[in-house]
Amino acid sequence: MGVGVLGTGHYAPMKVVTNKDLEKIVDTSDEWIRTRTGIEERRIAEDDMDTSEMAFQASLAALEEAKVKAEDLDLILVATVTPDTPFPSVSCMLQEKLGAVKAAAMDLSAACAGFMYGMVTAKQFIETGVYKNILVVGAEKLSKITDWSDRNTCVLFGDGAGAAVIGEVSDNKGILSFELGANGAGGEHLYQDANEGYLQMNGREVFKFAVRQMPESSVNVIEKIGYNKEDVDYLIPHQANIRIMEAAREKLGISEDRMATTIKKYGNNSSASIPMALSEAAKSGRINDNDLVVLVGFGAGLTWGAIALRW
Ligand code: ACO
Repeated sequence: MGVGVLGTGHYAPMKVVTNKDLEKIVDTSDEWIRTRTGIEERRIAEDDMDTSEMAFQASLAALEEAKVKAEDLDLILVATVTPDTPFPSVSCMLQEKLGAVKAAAMDLSAACAGFMYGMVTAKQFIETGVYKNILVVGAEKLSKITDWSDRNTCVLFGDGAGAAVIGEVSDNKGILSFELGANGAGGEHLYQDANEGYLQMNGREVFKFAVRQMPESSVNVIEKIGYNKEDVDYLIPHQANIRIMEAAREKLGISEDRMATTIKKYGNNSSASIPMALSEAAKSGRINDNDLVVLVGFGAGLTWGAIALRW
């Protein structure tokens, strides 16, 4: 038995905020944002669209594709750093919206690596035979913790949600290997401040960490299962900065068209970035049956995670 993805879904809010729009509110330029980050625009949720509602929209699509009924879910895991409220959890709100009456529900906080942590957690419950169908979601309304007067951070982030239903797949398919990690000593480089509740970041330090960790973890999960870099068909990195993503791609030696790059239109969606990119890649046919896919993320904590997946 393998443990893999039965269906994916994603949701991006309608409102588009371009780099030109941001030029009107902070001292920045379209050119600076594009060349330093790869971002061209991002989606921002309206006031009445909170994290749980975006999670709900993405989950409906994932359940439909997986042909799994909400009432057959055993567990809901939501990775988020921007819950509607600290409690009740987004996962409980989602359980209610979906009518997933049998499902246990909990949120998971590992920032941009959250979806990786969720997938790996789901795998354990299914492999041990405890649960059959698990919904893993990454959902963020980062716009509500963004200081819109701080050009160092406000140009980077966007809102959205991605979801995957995890369950049994055939032998030799699904999650083949993973790596999770954390380094709490780096917590000071990326955090939510206690006073105003804004995201604060030492961009250079996070960059240095990510540009080393993403390539390293990507290679580790491949080597763990005895494959070579050449065997990788598709790379889905956390969408934080195109230059960091390129470092991972170059380390694996794969061509540009085999890396998901949703960053251009969505920016950095934290825990939602990877599942949104995964869902888009699966739906557009960029991932095909039997492809070896590497998912890799890093985030506040500091945390990181990578998965090698046979589609
Ligand atoms: N527009 C114009 N200038 C800017 C902007 C902006 N939006 N933001 C910063 N600058 C300026 C800085 O003030 C600095 O000016 P100075 O030299 O006069 O001080 C100059 O641009 C260069 O700044 P650097 O920090 O050297 O720029 P860098 O090339 O490192 O790019 C960036 C900055 C994009 C933030 C980069 O460091 C980065 O991507 N870091 C990683 C961030 C990241 O991945 N964060 C997400 C983590 S995931 C999570 O958990 C949410």
